[in-house]
Amino acid sequence: MVKFNSNYKNLKPSYLFSDIARRVSEHVASTGAKVIRMDIGDVTQPLSAPIVDALIAASQEMGKVSTFRGYGPEQGYAFLREAVAGYYAKMGVELAADEIFISDGAKSDIANITDLFDNENIIALPDPVYPVYFDSNLMLGRKINLIQGNRENNFLPMPSSIAAADIIYLCSPNNPTGAVYTREQLKEWVDFALENNAIIMFDAAYEAFVRDNIYPRSIFEIEGARKCAIEFCSLSKTAGFTGLRCGYTVVPHDLASGSQSLNKMWLRRQTTKFNGVPYVVQRAAQAVFSQEGLRATEDTLNKYLKNAHLISASLDEVGAWNTGGKHSPYIWFACPKGMASWEFFELLLNSAGVVGTPGSGFGKCGEGYLRITAFNSYENTLAAMKKIKEIAANL
Ligand code: MLT
Repeated sequence: MVKFNSNYKNLKPSYLFSDIARRVSEHVASTGAKVIRMDIGDVTQPLSAPIVDALIAASQEMGKVSTFRGYGPEQGYAFLREAVAGYYAKMGVELAADEIFISDGAKSDIANITDLFDNENIIALPDPVYPVYFDSNLMLGRKINLIQGNRENNFLPMPSSIAAADIIYLCSPNNPTGAVYTREQLKEWVDFALENNAIIMFDAAYEAFVRDNIYPRSIFEIEGARKCAIEFCSLSKTAGFTGLRCGYTVVPHDLASGSQSLNKMWLRRQTTKFNGVPYVVQRAAQAVFSQEGLRATEDTLNKYLKNAHLISASLDEVGAWNTGGKHSPYIWFACPKGMASWEFFELLLNSAGVVGTPGSGFGKCGEGYLRITAFNSYENTLAAMKKIKEIAANL
């Protein structure tokens, strides 16, 4: 008789962002009210001109016999892997092109990488945490140790607070809190992983928002990381690819145990279970790394960071404790008057039409906080912050 994966019984009934989307559409259907979405980190600025030009040129190639492409290499075309390697080289990180794997985004790779590891591994996750790390391990019935993030550690938990860990997930700049690890702090994590024969899954999806060199953009800027880390990155937030879909994962050759190499295992996994990212999308991604592409991307990122600064300044005005926003599109703040996350979410939605993400959706340590994103337009961000300030002042 067929047996279902009973680990699914341990998951919440729906994924956090699907739950919010359902509540928002019910609210809109019943009230007809307009809402300002500052919940899921979905971008609003269009693709820049160099990316659009690359998409058009690649689409035209696909319409001619002489330049048409069918299946591509599952791990990505060399032109894009080399462009990514060039991007890392600018950060002082030398990578071989075959250590870079192109994918449809960081989320899928972060969940899929679990295939490479035995179920006996102990997983260490910060709390609050991006739900994908937690859920993808729960689906496999793995033992999860949570490391507490809180105001005392600025939501940047350190290795001193964990007992045991074989696989550690870190995200910096962090989703959901926007907090960023310094070089020294990341070095502590790398040293811990090396001492304990552990692997760090480093989510660098927000690296492009870093504006100060004291914060590393890649874990491979830290000495020793090649021997203990896998890095996931995405063009979703950097270059507006949430709809186009393209990311990359770096699996260094140094990650080996006996005769097994994680790089070879990931290649084997991807060639078996994945057919690669569309050619036209990979050409668009290549354009992101061109000089004009990087310049255009920077303009867009600065627009989002301007919103982020407005959000933090507005929260400061009403005395709401907050973090993030300086090197990140996420601002994490304490709900006014000690309100619970979902309670404040409902109040904001019903009385102001503003949608945030309840901190408790990211874990127990997120209770009493709300995350808002800087991805909306400046006008909408201004309008939303005006409403939030009014609510906070009248509570
Ligand atoms: C978020 O809002 O946390 C992100 O957009 C989710 C994601 O990138 O998958």
